[in-house]
Amino acid sequence: MAEATAFLPSMLMLILLLFSIVDEARCYGDKEVLSIQVFQLKELKHFTKCHPQKSRKNNGAIIFEMKHWDYCHGQFKNWDEKVENRLAFDESRAKSLQLHIRNAVDSAKIEVENNTQIPLTSGIKLQTLNYIVTVQLGGRKMTVIVDTGSDLTWVQCTPCVFCYDQQDPLFNPSLSRSYQSILCNSSTCQSLQFATGYSGICSTNQPACNYVVNYGDGSYTRGELARDQLNLSSTLVEGFIFGCGRSNEGLFGGASGIMGLGRNQLSLTSQLSPIFGGVFSYCLPSTDADGSGSLMLGSDSSLYKNFTPIIYTNLITNPQLSNFYILNLTGISIGGVALEDPAVFGKNGILIDSGTVISRLVPSVYNAMKTEFLKQFSGYPQRRRSQSSTPASTSQITVKWTYQHCN
Ligand SMILES: *[C@@H]1O[C@H](CO)[C@@H](O)[C@H](O)[C@H]1NC(C)=O
Ligand SMILES: *[C@@H]1O[C@H](CO)[C@@H](O)[C@H](O)[C@H]1NC(C)=O
Ligand SMILES: *[C@@H]1O[C@H](CO)[C@@H](O)[C@H](O)[C@H]1NC(C)=O
Ligand SMILES: *[C@@H]1O[C@H](CO)[C@@H](O)[C@H](O)[C@H]1NC(C)=O
Repeated sequence: MAEATAFLPSMLMLILLLFSIVDEARCYGDKEVLSIQVFQLKELKHFTKCHPQKSRKNNGAIIFEMKHWDYCHGQFKNWDEKVENRLAFDESRAKSLQLHIRNAVDSAKIEVENNTQIPLTSGIKLQTLNYIVTVQLGGRKMTVIVDTGSDLTWVQCTPCVFCYDQQDPLFNPSLSRSYQSILCNSSTCQSLQFATGYSGICSTNQPACNYVVNYGDGSYTRGELARDQLNLSSTLVEGFIFGCGRSNEGLFGGASGIMGLGRNQLSLTSQLSPIFGGVFSYCLPSTDADGSGSLMLGSDSSLYKNFTPIIYTNLITNPQLSNFYILNLTGISIGGVALEDPAVFGKNGILIDSGTVISRLVPSVYNAMKTEFLKQFSGYPQRRRSQSSTPASTSQITVKWTYQHCN
């Protein structure tokens, strides 16, 4: 029996998450086009408090326990609300990345989807950053959101001008003996421009370097650029550069801030590259309260190689998007049928972002994929999706699928 909440895996999440829940399933002939993975958002009952995540050291690598964001965030009332919220947040996240790309790249050269509308709600974007780890900064435990799509690591700091609610106490620089402000005339302050898109802000009466990160959807963090000791499972990193956020707006799910794992020299990955070689890997956890993944710093592949076969591919670099991790999208096939889109495959890359839930494709590829998908599912009943239940972010998708895996 197919579950009422069954979804197709991986790439097809793109379509199927938008296609809502199957609330009725009949066996239709004996077709078996795709194998179906049961995907259920389980109700979490014991996640009101976000406990610090563990970390351990193994052969010079650090392995952080990583949890899904839901684990330490308030409950949604029901499944539909949860999915719709997730979609809306995800759309915002994608929008802000697209904005970033548009600003960085000659817009004539890149096809950016912009036919969906999402209100630019302040702070909504970072709710989609799904994974948290705990690090020790300046002697305090900080639970931060892992983000491969940004660079500057920051935490909320006292004295705070505006801080959102978080679960751990705010970072208090005056309690840390190793805390140091970064001076405005330093080259580190100047490097902010490349990491955040905004140069350091200096004032005449104080020497500190002030940073701004605007995430494109109204959410932001502002504060002082600083250094302090980072303790990663007893590997001590002196003078780690981070943002001491004094004005932070956004729904960051009760976390203390962001861990920026991008490619810029200010990212945690780059700052720690003398120790870990600039290598990190992660295994993403499920949304279950007991679902635990890991984030590993360091290149000892023997630590994960035994669990699952690994396929390697080179990252590609785009000088205008040098802070992002980009893969070469060389093709897509559905049910063994390769899509033909020579205009995009092998040319534009696909951006890897830990914060985006639903894979997104440029309209030309998406439409080709949808057409092929519809063709292969033509033997299955289709229904129109009712307008009222369509979140704004999914308004371009109007069909609803009914399918069942028949034995
Ligand atoms: C995106 O929107 C702008 C202005 O609203 C329009 O000029 C442009 O053609 C749109 N691009 C796509 C790919 O739809
Ligand atoms: C930066 O300014 C401080 C005084 O605020 C001064 O002591 C220091 O030498 C300056 N550093 C550079 C690199 O100019
Ligand atoms: C670093 O963290 C470990 C626990 O992970 C702790 O045992 C150790 O005392 C810490 N070191 C410092 C200098 O804070
Ligand atoms: C991406 O892959 C295509 C097809 O294999 C290849 O022709 C192209 O050179 C690759 N691009 C980069 C930047 O590696």
